[in-house]
Amino acid sequence: MKYPQNFEFDDLQGLLRFGHGKLRGSCFLLLNIVDVDAAREWLNTAPVSSAVTTNPLPDRALQIAFSVDGLRALGLRESIIADFSDEFIVGMTGDESRSRRLGDVGANAPQQWDWGGDASHTPHILLLLYAAKDGIGAWRSHVEDEQFIQAFELFRELPTRDIGSIEPFGFLDGISQPRIDWAHRQGTDLHERDRYSNWLAAGEVVLGYANEYGEYSNRPLIEPHEDELATGLPDAEEQLTRKDFGRNGSYLVIRQLHQDVPGFWGFVDQASGSTEERDQLAASMVGRHRDGSPLIPTSIEEIPGVSPQNSENQFTYAADPDGYLCPFGAHVRRANPRTGDYPPAVTGFISRFIRLFGFGLKRPDEDLVASTRFHRLLRRGRGYGRVLAPEDAIKADAPDGERGLQFICLVANISRQFEFVQNAWMMNSNFSGVNNESDPLLGNREPLLNGDDTDRFSRPDPAGPMQKTCRLPQFVTVRGGGYFFMPGLRALRYIAALPGSDKNGKDNPS
Ligand code: HEM
Repeated sequence: MKYPQNFEFDDLQGLLRFGHGKLRGSCFLLLNIVDVDAAREWLNTAPVSSAVTTNPLPDRALQIAFSVDGLRALGLRESIIADFSDEFIVGMTGDESRSRRLGDVGANAPQQWDWGGDASHTPHILLLLYAAKDGIGAWRSHVEDEQFIQAFELFRELPTRDIGSIEPFGFLDGISQPRIDWAHRQGTDLHERDRYSNWLAAGEVVLGYANEYGEYSNRPLIEPHEDELATGLPDAEEQLTRKDFGRNGSYLVIRQLHQDVPGFWGFVDQASGSTEERDQLAASMVGRHRDGSPLIPTSIEEIPGVSPQNSENQFTYAADPDGYLCPFGAHVRRANPRTGDYPPAVTGFISRFIRLFGFGLKRPDEDLVASTRFHRLLRRGRGYGRVLAPEDAIKADAPDGERGLQFICLVANISRQFEFVQNAWMMNSNFSGVNNESDPLLGNREPLLNGDDTDRFSRPDPAGPMQKTCRLPQFVTVRGGGYFFMPGLRALRYIAALPGSDKNGKDNPS
């Protein structure tokens, strides 16, 4: 198999590599196309940022992603669209069973969303602008030139605000990310990956490269003899005679998550007898202290893919098999259980063989959590709303307000990565041997069909019975969301060069 020695950073949108955390100003726009020709012309010269490093890094960035309706509006052939994944084509709100699996029921139901809830129309384009804090206005004016104004109508501007790296509940965020293996340092072979590693195959976040199975995720491939335009696209790595429309592209999942900050801190305060207990309960729910330090002692054994400076990520839960330090149900332990392909202590051929047939479990729940490397997310979200410190949030007159997270993640497989994590790990009321509870931050607290509760949070206690906190209210409510495709820059030029349209946003079939 051929692997790239030099990753095509010039074809990759910068958000995948940089995250733009240093550019504190941001502006997220949902757009609809009203004039297809003008839209294509604008796209042809739009200053979309690549992932090439410059010194210094640019102080402005623009990234673009399309919904399936957006790609259709721009005239992409149905035969190409059909090769995208089903989740992308059907959309985040496209069927009830998906909404149920994602926890989008009750107060989270798409019918209640501010945007994206209407499955019959998803906004065409998500435009993400980043700049130094006081430069975002000028950058936006520059991007919204005459052509832009003719091409698009603003469907919605999503709230974003520079609230620093502390998310609205008051915890340091953006600490743990997978380290993308751009240079293909690490094999994906099962036998090389017994242990948790933070390195992640590039094909887990970028289409057109080998993923953690050593395979290529499905994506649109084009026969060049059927399509002249496709000559500008890269070759498909595993099928060299075909052109790769997906290469260097990624799926972008966005969810606007409202956070009830007074509700969260008011609840943990009431449930605790002292400030220390309150802070301990809140930290147990998140799985980290407010300053980001882990609840687990950092490991002496080096974790591959965690740089030595990143000591707050130098741990796995192998050091806490009973959940005494970090409860199994804590947000970060659900979101990334840091499991390898085999449980700890399985190293040699014989012990692997024994485990393969399901023997040798030390604890009955040991095998319950899937190997993490197939379910990682590259998070790229931003917070919004006015900061409300926990100490103020517990006051009786704490102001309500719109604050929360524009949760964004980039993945190569929406269902195996984002939907799996959201459904099997976050929303599932049976996770890692705990029952009747879902993610303490994200749970919608809706009872199950059989009437069982999901609104508890339990903390194993070495000194006695499990400590249970009951009747957790809903702290996070979904306000909007959608699935988008963030193309590589050559695919973007292909879209911009698509032929023919009338002026009403409808394309002629090509
Ligand atoms: C308003 C909603 C949310 C809040 C307040 C929140 C908060 C946090 C915080 C404070 C951390 C620890 C900082 C870090 O490790 O970077 C974290 C980590 C994480 N969160 Fe969330 N989060 C939210 C939604 C989500 C959602 C919807 C998902 C995925 C479906 C998610 C996935 C993750 C992952 C994968 C990690 C890293 C875990 C690790 O690698 O140890 N979060 N979150």
